[in-house]
Amino acid sequence: MNQTSWGIIGAARIAREQVIPAIARAEAGEVVAVSSASGKAGQYAEELGIARAYDSHDDLLADPQVESVYIALPNGHHAEWIRRAARAGKHVLCEKPLVLGPAELELVEEAATAGNVVVAEAFMYRYHPQLEALRDLLADGTLGDPVAIEARLHFGLERAPESAGATDIRLDPALGGGSLLDVGCYPVDLFGLLTDAEPDEVMGTAVRDHPEGVDTRFAGTLRYGDVLASFDCSFDSPFRGSATILGARGSVTLSDVFRADRMGGVGAMVVETEAGTREMAPTGDQYAAQATAFARQVRTGHGDDGPWRWTTYACRTLDRLAAAATPAH
Ligand SMILES: NC(=O)c1ccc[n+]([C@@H]2O[C@H](COP(=O)([O-])OP(=O)(O)OC[C@H]3O[C@@H](n4cnc5c(N)ncnc54)[C@H](OP(=O)(O)O)[C@@H]3O)[C@@H](O)[C@H]2O)c1
Repeated sequence: MNQTSWGIIGAARIAREQVIPAIARAEAGEVVAVSSASGKAGQYAEELGIARAYDSHDDLLADPQVESVYIALPNGHHAEWIRRAARAGKHVLCEKPLVLGPAELELVEEAATAGNVVVAEAFMYRYHPQLEALRDLLADGTLGDPVAIEARLHFGLERAPESAGATDIRLDPALGGGSLLDVGCYPVDLFGLLTDAEPDEVMGTAVRDHPEGVDTRFAGTLRYGDVLASFDCSFDSPFRGSATILGARGSVTLSDVFRADRMGGVGAMVVETEAGTREMAPTGDQYAAQATAFARQVRTGHGDDGPWRWTTYACRTLDRLAAAATPAH
């Protein structure tokens, strides 16, 4: 069986709502411990039926019953805890974006190699069957040579008045917040996954609420060889997470490419070619499939090297986009 014993680092909302239930659905092992640096572990463990609760992440890392950890801390804390976990010999599934930039990625990679552990980024959308269907459409020539890819991910973040400071980890520059890193990472990861490359050129522009603040809206234009890619993202609209791939012979639109779970796991793809319009609805449980894939990698000691390559592409590309964006205004 592809199972591992899990420790949860951070009493996080995403762990409670998605990842812990998905580990159970996937039968990918048992969650045996949770840690919270802000004292929330006890109540969290009780509510979710987790056997052990720690007030320190280091204490969780010292627990011999924990083989793997899932890290759901703010983006700016990922690299530090991945490295500490790797040093403790724990395998790591860590939330996206894995790290804040290439320098952190290098340190994380070194730690994973030294600790001989699996480190994986929790980009769950990669595990939905619509991604496989999309890659098939590109590989079998249905769409012809790719010409342009456009993708977006937006959602509405409740904001307190500016005077209240950063009330959400996504708005705090010190915690690695910002729309490019938090949600723009999805379209950028999709571009890398579909092109299996890093872009030759990037352009970016950002909206910031105030000069010291994070970007709250971001748009980018990229060129991968002769394929154009563009995306936008923000914290300021009802949820939208879509992509359109235009090829020389047709196009496909995925209306829920990143969060098909919001539609009960049903993917919605519309393929338009000279042969007509075809609708496809590949269905799957992306959070559960992610848990299965991670546990399998832990058990077999190796896996498909695609996911790490895509993580590397996205990390470097996000860094270039941030540097390319217009200064705060
Ligand atoms: N894959 C997905 O679908 C998805 C969806 C949403 C978010 N995410 C990612 O998941 C991660 C967590 O997001 P979330 O929405 O679940 O976050 P959250 O519940 O607001 O916070 C997660 C944990 O971060 C720590 N934390 C919160 N505020 C902090 C602060 N001001 N300073 C230091 N630590 C703080 C806390 O850990 P302690 O318990 O130790 O205090 C908290 O339990 C992020 O990396 C985000 O990008 C992924």
